[in-house]
Amino acid sequence: MKKIIITIDGYSSCGKSTLAKKIAKDLNYVFVDSGAMYRAVTHYFLKNHLDWTIPEQVVDAINHISLKFEYNAQNGTSDILLNGENVEAAIREMIINENVSDVAAIKEVRDFTVAEQQKNAIEKGIVMDGRDIGTVVFPNAELKIFLTASPEARVERRYKQLLAQGKQVTREEVRLNNEKRDYIDTHREISPLRKAADAIEIDNTHLTTLEQEKLVMDMVFEKLKN
Ligand code: DC
Repeated sequence: MKKIIITIDGYSSCGKSTLAKKIAKDLNYVFVDSGAMYRAVTHYFLKNHLDWTIPEQVVDAINHISLKFEYNAQNGTSDILLNGENVEAAIREMIINENVSDVAAIKEVRDFTVAEQQKNAIEKGIVMDGRDIGTVVFPNAELKIFLTASPEARVERRYKQLLAQGKQVTREEVRLNNEKRDYIDTHREISPLRKAADAIEIDNTHLTTLEQEKLVMDMVFEKLKN
């Protein structure tokens, strides 16, 4: 059966990964969380006390970073490995949320991560979520989704997700972090977050996860028919 590339881009906390995981599972495709790669690079900088505003330190860091995804049978998804170490939990901490957009704006970092992301697509059958997947990473993807939701819904979802993970955080902190990341992600010089001209926009504020999954799966079947 024909396999396609599906991209899911959008602002922070819109539920991109949740949707991408479900679609990948339904189709038996590979799911790639590109944000996890920027988070892992940020973790590397922080852990090694490196300064990402110093170009030599950025180049040195990238030369020492290897990123891989490993299947996690417990939750049926993939965990990210940074130089062989599973950093899936560490990259979801607030300290990473606070710094990742600055790191993701650096050209050398993006050159590295985009090249890694593109390696995944040799065989197609992939669902990747992020900010520039439909515009830069896979401009020829067969199906591009641009996911949005109201700022209030996004804060509420991320807040509940962090609480469920046992994190100490307030709604206000989540709101400020979402706003800050969206601002940096849409205003950076290199591949800023944009809706691709041929992307389909879905506002999921009032959709259940099941409803949005069905909506996208209908789009997938339509693409596979043609
Ligand atoms: O999707 P996420 O929240 O895990 O992404 C973390 C950060 O990484 C996000 O604030 C911006 C950056 N990012 C990016 O610049 N390009 C991508 N394709 C994915 C994420």
